[in-house]
Amino acid sequence: MLAEVLLSVLFVIVCVYFLDAKPKNLPPGLWGLPVIGYIFSMLPFPEQIKNLQRRFGDIASWRIGSRITILISDFATIKSALGHPNLAGRPDFFSFNIFSHFENMGIVNSNGPQWQHARRFALHHLKDFGMGKTSLEDTIIPEVNQLINEISKQEGEPMEISNALNQIVEEHKKSRIPHNPRDYIDAYLDQEEEKHNPNSSFKFELFDLLITMRDLFEAGSETTSSTFRWMIALMAVNPDVQTKVQAEIDAAVPRDRVPNLNDRKNLQYLEAMLNEVHRHASFIPLCIPHMVFEDTYLEGYVLPKGSIVMANISSCHFNPRYWKYPKIFYPEHFIDEKGKCMNKREGFLPFSVGRRVCPGETLARTELFLFTSAVLQQFTIKSPPGEKIVAETDPSKLIFNHVKPYKVVFERRIQTI
Ligand code: HEM
Ligand SMILES: *[C@@H]1O[C@H](CO)[C@@H](O)[C@H](O)[C@H]1NC(C)=O
Ligand SMILES: *[C@@H]1O[C@H](CO)[C@@H](O)[C@H](O)[C@H]1NC(C)=O
Repeated sequence: MLAEVLLSVLFVIVCVYFLDAKPKNLPPGLWGLPVIGYIFSMLPFPEQIKNLQRRFGDIASWRIGSRITILISDFATIKSALGHPNLAGRPDFFSFNIFSHFENMGIVNSNGPQWQHARRFALHHLKDFGMGKTSLEDTIIPEVNQLINEISKQEGEPMEISNALNQIVEEHKKSRIPHNPRDYIDAYLDQEEEKHNPNSSFKFELFDLLITMRDLFEAGSETTSSTFRWMIALMAVNPDVQTKVQAEIDAAVPRDRVPNLNDRKNLQYLEAMLNEVHRHASFIPLCIPHMVFEDTYLEGYVLPKGSIVMANISSCHFNPRYWKYPKIFYPEHFIDEKGKCMNKREGFLPFSVGRRVCPGETLARTELFLFTSAVLQQFTIKSPPGEKIVAETDPSKLIFNHVKPYKVVFERRIQTI
């Protein structure tokens, strides 16, 4: 009897052992026990995962529960990994947004035909509403003027610009015509209203499109306004860079109007400065997780089907292999031998890469260009008198790199509006 019990137990152990066999050629890392995987402390996830690169290098694995997570920290490997069609998935076991009812909807968290459909729809709308066309400029310039007016009201006084770009949303609320969206922000506001209407005639498919809109709005507003806030702080902290940008604007743009998209080709240092803001801020330090659809080979390792891939974007942005002065704010990192700005270069991945690459890149770049060039043409940004602000990551924010809250003073240089 005892022998039978012991044999059964042994049998179960052997079965679990073999069923739990670690896939061959898995990147080095933490495997742990069946079912629970490797859990080594109660530190928050971002803290725990940090040790992985330190211990196992640029491609490392970690089994959490029964899921395998792969952390990739090197530019070339990230590029080939995220460029692979098998890695274009999002984790299917949870959703970041409760609002989508944990369904495969919207664009950021969805997979398969749903994602393809939503992504096509999103790109189409971003284009419709002027991605790269002059109509986008026509939408943004009045908003730029409004921001300048807002700043003018508090000129010379220490000012927080935390909500500077969210004014734009308020403006949309005032001027929009419901159900007749001019852009994706209006479409989003329509959707917010519908959500509270019990008689809504919106159908499920439309609901899905609206989640796509919500995704676009959320993915687009926080990222862009936070990057803008980084830029303002970095200008106050780096007056030499600021002076150089202003000299370039003064030489290229007549003083009676704000800069527009035609001036872009003559504002290469400013463009390089904005790229350096993206690098320095690394607002999304760890890319949105990807999921592996099929067993995939990468640099001699296997990434098993269903594993989650995390790409360390900020590791690329601060790797001395790619940057002359990784820790210094140095726009020249992006200037080539001909004095032109490089938007693509080794080690630089602010919008990620591959099939999931940020579809809002053009929009974000256009907005940042128009806002930044106008503000720096009109004002000089300084720390408040007797104070020296810092442009550092706010440690209280875990997932995204927000700049620490600060106040700056805007000093009028020239007046065009
Ligand atoms: C400074 C501004 C921005 C930065 C740094 C940024 C960065 C990123 C990054 C790193 C990703 C993850 C890509 C991946 O998973 O591989 C992403 C995805 C995304 N971004 Fe952006 N983004 C910005 C602005 C915008 C704007 C303005 C929009 C739209 C209006 C937008 C819409 C999206 C969407 C919808 C996705 C998900 C794409 C997908 O899953 O297929 N982003 N962004
Ligand atoms: C919804 O319909 C009911 C009955 O027709 C009506 O009394 C109510 O005011 C409507 N609510 C909204 C928000 O339109
Ligand atoms: C990503 O890289 C940065 C810079 O090297 C490092 O500080 C950070 O801890 C890394 N994050 C993870 C999750 O490994």
